[in-house]
Amino acid sequence: MKKSVLFVCLGNICRSPSAEAVFTAMVNQKGLSAFYDIDSAGTSGWHAGGPADRRMSKHASRRGYELTSISRKFDPQTDFDRFEYIIGMDDENIRTLRAMARNAEDRKKIHKMTDFRQELSYNEVPDPYYGGEEGFELVLYLLEDACAGLLEKTEASRKQ
Ligand code: 4NP
Repeated sequence: MKKSVLFVCLGNICRSPSAEAVFTAMVNQKGLSAFYDIDSAGTSGWHAGGPADRRMSKHASRRGYELTSISRKFDPQTDFDRFEYIIGMDDENIRTLRAMARNAEDRKKIHKMTDFRQELSYNEVPDPYYGGEEGFELVLYLLEDACAGLLEKTEASRKQ
């Protein structure tokens, strides 16, 4: 069965579209795209319909990731059913997602991105929106580390 992964942050213009691009690149590189359904969403709809943040896109593209996804708001009525893994970027995202969960089954699908970290010892992917350039670089570092860990986990369960 296909593995379905939804990355979630606040605005869906910085962290979660980057997570979507990094994870998609890893999946494609391993020739696994047929086995994955990958998307991203925001807990807010503030930027719905718009492209990724220009600063985030610039830093991502320097590392070879094109951010193409258009922002949308997380929809508890459809997204909890459609996705097996719902992955928030920080503790606030997790709290918001838990508050929207309809039942225990929904709640079990919610994870924090840094739960999958391998090398780096951060407990959140910090919001880069109001900070400087280094915040966008940190997001990409953390996402590359945690996406590698996530892919190991999803592949182990897909092959079971
Ligand atoms: P994101 O970053 O949650 O990683 O997409 C943000 C984007 C927009 C805002 C905050 C964080 N905002 O306040 O509009």
